[in-house]
Amino acid sequence: MKYLALIATTIACFGGFLFGYDTGVISSVLVMPTFFTDLGIDPKAQSAYVADVKGNVVALLQAGCCAGALLINVFADRWGRKFAIVFSSIIFTIGGILQTVATNMSMMLAGRFIAGFGVGANSMLVPMYVAEIAPRKLRGRLGTLWQFLIVVGIMVSYWVGYGCLHNLSPSSSQWKIPLGLQIVPGAILVIGIPFMPESLRWLAIRDKNEQCRKTIARLRDLPEEDPLVTQEMEEIAAAIELERESKSGRFSEIFQSGNLRRLFIGCMLQLFQQWTGTNAINYYAPQIFNSIGLSSAETDVLATGVYGIVKVVFVFVSFFMVDTKLGRRRTLMIGSVIMCAAFYILGGMIFMILKEPKGSPVGAKGYVAIIMVYCFAIGYEFSWGPIVWIVCSEIYPTRIRAMCLSLTTAINWAMNATIAKATPVMLANITYGTYFLFGSFAVVMGVFVYFFLPETRGRSLEQMDEIFNRGIFAFRYDNSVPTEKIREAEEKGEYIE
Ligand code: GLC
Repeated sequence: MKYLALIATTIACFGGFLFGYDTGVISSVLVMPTFFTDLGIDPKAQSAYVADVKGNVVALLQAGCCAGALLINVFADRWGRKFAIVFSSIIFTIGGILQTVATNMSMMLAGRFIAGFGVGANSMLVPMYVAEIAPRKLRGRLGTLWQFLIVVGIMVSYWVGYGCLHNLSPSSSQWKIPLGLQIVPGAILVIGIPFMPESLRWLAIRDKNEQCRKTIARLRDLPEEDPLVTQEMEEIAAAIELERESKSGRFSEIFQSGNLRRLFIGCMLQLFQQWTGTNAINYYAPQIFNSIGLSSAETDVLATGVYGIVKVVFVFVSFFMVDTKLGRRRTLMIGSVIMCAAFYILGGMIFMILKEPKGSPVGAKGYVAIIMVYCFAIGYEFSWGPIVWIVCSEIYPTRIRAMCLSLTTAINWAMNATIAKATPVMLANITYGTYFLFGSFAVVMGVFVYFFLPETRGRSLEQMDEIFNRGIFAFRYDNSVPTEKIREAEEKGEYIE
């Protein structure tokens, strides 16, 4: 079938959309008073108490995500990627339904955790499934595609929230509709994936060679006996053979110096990505806009919707930038500078706004502050957002990749949960200090990249071994490769030698 790979990728990509929608939707729900009153909480209660409840509602999803990302590998290896995606999407859908029909806070929290398990599991499975069926040429761009789907999900969730606040009078439907809609992408995955082809790599690992050959032919729309089909089969088989040969002592391999260094860098990048503060804004943007002085929940959520659009546009820009001359290192450093400047100015503006009498109209400082939130989104989305996922997917040796990825992804989610829980408390207690803190982290991460992250653009896995064994300090070695060479090699589906 001509477009089978495209259709399968599109359906699977709803997993990325789901990731974004689910993490983003809560921001507007949290500013709807009926959400709290319906679940038995007084939104006007002591601010520390409300901050605590908000933190739990947001962070339990991420806690579930962390568990899902760590545990799902067992299913994916034993029963196949398709089965695992359907399984986690069913769990997700159950969590979504539970949130929608919740009548008290405990039900809501349980629903958030269960849905989180599905989102986290899919955050491991979908990129893996797509990489295992996609044509070679596309694979390099998958990291950015993944980030793109996440931010599209976030943006859609913001506008759904805005639509409900704008068009519906305060009632349960205002928060039930945005939460209920998450079931749609979940259902698309549950219904669609069983009709899609199984992952080629998984079929080959399970020695289902005949089925693997048939699936390659279907995916690439070629006759089974075509030499290209045979070539792809051979490549997959060779990669698996290599993994099998070196299976013994796999865990101890992590501790070899080059590998340990890579794992350390991967973990730090994921940790830093969360400490950029991106999710502090993603989850609490309406509250932040409110502190800047916007006049109502509706305008707060409207400004948040615009923030969502800025994110989508700049991930799109990054799609064309990740493989340009700038490379990973420089893009990450430039991103850090922009984020740092944006957060420091934002913090300064809020510091001044807080000195003004409460309820003053938004003045120039307010507008500068709003623009700084958007500037932060620009700095983040073309750099740390997509590139961390890309670097993590390309630096590990095949033999220990699954293990390392599962660990670094779990760190991402654990930090995500920490930020989700800590942000409302920070906003309530240190107010503008929150932004100075994130701004300072941006400095630390830029310095970290300068010293420790070697340039990896356009390099093969074998070359990674060499690059990471050269010496601890990355700034001493220039690993960059001319862009034209990368393009040429990409065309042929090769790496630079
Ligand atoms: C990255 C982060 C994720 C965040 C997204 C959008 O993918 O890992 O936590 O939600 O960017 O900001």
